[in-house]
Order: sequence, then C-alpha cells, then structure tokens
Amino acid sequence: MLITRPFDSAALKLHPFSCGEPDLDDWLTRYAGQSEKKDNVRTTLLLDEQQGRIAGYYSMRTFELSAADAASADGRSRRYPVPAMLLARLAVDSDYQSHGAGRLLLFDALQKLLAAANSIGFEVIVVHALHEDAACFYLKHGFRRFLDHDLSLFLTTKDLRATFVTQDPS
Ligand SMILES: CC(C)(COP(=O)(O)OP(=O)(O)OC[C@H]1O[C@@H](n2cnc3c(N)ncnc32)[C@H](O)[C@@H]1OP(=O)(O)O)[C@@H](O)C(=O)NCCC(=O)NCCS
Repeated sequence: MLITRPFDSAALKLHPFSCGEPDLDDWLTRYAGQSEKKDNVRTTLLLDEQQGRIAGYYSMRTFELSAADAASADGRSRRYPVPAMLLARLAVDSDYQSHGAGRLLLFDALQKLLAAANSIGFEVIVVHALHEDAACFYLKHGFRRFLDHDLSLFLTTKDLRATFVTQDPS
C-alpha cells in the first residue's frame, strides 16, 4: 500500500529514487532535506512501506505571480502581483508510474492546498512543467495553460474548491 508521509531524510536510505528525470531525482536526494530545514520548500513522500521504497514525492512553496504573468492567465490586466502557491516538483519512480501514483500525489497536494486556502490567502496554484508530456498530465487534472507560457500551468483557488473538493482520487 502506498501512503503519503512528510519528508524524512531516513527514507533516502531506502532504494534509490529514479523517475526518469535526473534533476528531480537529484533534488530529492541532495536538496529536499536542506530546503525542509530552511522552511523553504515542504516535501511530501509517497512511500511503499512493504517494499521499503519511495514511490514518489511532491514539493510545494509559496509563490507570487507578477501582474503581467497573472494577466497571461486570464487576459485580465492587473495592477498588483497575485499571491500564489507553487507546486514546485512532482515525480513518481519509474517502477510505480502509470498505476495512479501521480494522481494520488496530485490529489494529496491539492487537498492540502484546499485546507490551507481557508487560512492563507492565495488566488492560484502554479506549476512549471518540465516538458509537454508533464504539462498534459496537469491539463488532464484541471490545470490551464498561461497564455504566454506553454509549460506553465495554473489552477485557481476557486476552481480548486469547485472541482477537486468533490472528487475522489481512487
Ligand atoms: C508525470 C507523472 C507524475 C505521472 O504519474 P503517473 O503515476 O505515471 O500517472 P498516473 O498513473 O497517476 O496517471 C493518472 C492519470 O493521468 C494520466 N496521465 C499520466 N501521465 C500523463 C501524461 N504525461 N499526459 C497525459 N495524461 C497522463 C493517466 O493516463 C491517468 O489517467 P486515466 O486514469 O484516465 O488513465 C510521472 O509519469 C512522472 O513522474 N514522470 C517523470 C517526472 C516528471 O516528468 N514529473 C513532472 C515534472 S513537472
């Protein structure tokens, strides 16, 4: 059974994590712990406790959209930057891909953001996809592209409430 857990550096001693994107593998191994200690980025692991493996992870932090980038989301001109959250990374180990782990991670992240939205103000969730394939994964799950940036996508907090609160990841 796969279960989400807060980042724990002890988990890195398990089987090496490999998702097919070396930068995402390296970041988990080398920088997730440091970022955690600095309260800079928060990482959640998806653990396969039976196999003693990290099946996936995502990391999130606060973000701010410039007025120009915010306008590129919906075409409305803005005078001020827009508070946002950044889904900075999301990756599934190659051995666990295509079995729902990515969706499970994404829904876990969105549920946390949904809860956070009750006490922290942010208008939008942003993700910078590494490539078109990853962008398609987010498009499939309700994200939309910025008009000016093909690989940057967003989900408004309003859409998050309307769409994801009623859905079940299973
Ligand atoms: C992209 C990634 C996270 C998807 O995770 P996954 O576990 O393979 O995906 P899931 O099995 O949870 O797929 C859930 C749904 O999304 C769809 N999906 C998965 N990858 C997709 C893609 N690249 N494009 C479109 N849809 C996709 C699946 O078909 C599935 O839909 P269905 O249930 O209707 O069939 C994973 O392939 C990965 O980690 N890739 C390497 C790292 C990476 O590129 N991360 C993104 C960085 S921005």
